[in-house]
Amino acid sequence: MAMPTLGILGSGTGSNMQAILDAIEAGELEARIALVLSDNPNAAILERAREKGIRAEVIDCRGHLMKFPEEAQQEMARRLRDAGVDLVCLAGFMRLVKRPLLDAFPSRILNIHPSLLPAFPGLEAWRQALEAGVLESGATVHLVDAGMDTGPILGQERVSVFPDDTPQTLHARIQLAEHRLYPEMIGRYAAQLNP
Ligand code: GRF
Repeated sequence: MAMPTLGILGSGTGSNMQAILDAIEAGELEARIALVLSDNPNAAILERAREKGIRAEVIDCRGHLMKFPEEAQQEMARRLRDAGVDLVCLAGFMRLVKRPLLDAFPSRILNIHPSLLPAFPGLEAWRQALEAGVLESGATVHLVDAGMDTGPILGQERVSVFPDDTPQTLHARIQLAEHRLYPEMIGRYAAQLNP
């Protein structure tokens, strides 16, 4: 896949979306972001995308706080397909992706997670790492399957944990690694896919 069209799903600040965009603009990643979707109408990722002229839309999860309703997943799959998306990149998307979306993009959904998976899946992985007292954590890019942070690993970057780290300082250091790793892994994965 020479020049993948990306769809990005995020619920938060969108710094990984920004890193992907920066890599594209710097000529380090050959790709195009066609669409950004969020389940959170107030997410900064939407504003960041629009400022760059990228289409950014909200998916209505009908008041569900955690659940990702089937209809919402179908709607998401439809919009991504209509936008010509080849690869879906989760970037701080807080709902568990299930069948309707997985089936629409088999082996085409990537996620970035703030730990060295399989260690510390789930929420606030940087806090989990700190509480476990590990000397090293990091970031992982993996394919998404129906589990929580369980799909095949595409790449990882290691990050040291320092004795005086707080959850905030460790997360900030891991995010720097994420911003390098994610664009690189997207490019590498796209290159190994057939056209
Ligand atoms: C990142 O730490 C990512 O690993 C996790 O959620 C956070 C998203 O940050 N899945 P941002 O919205 O990309 O700034």
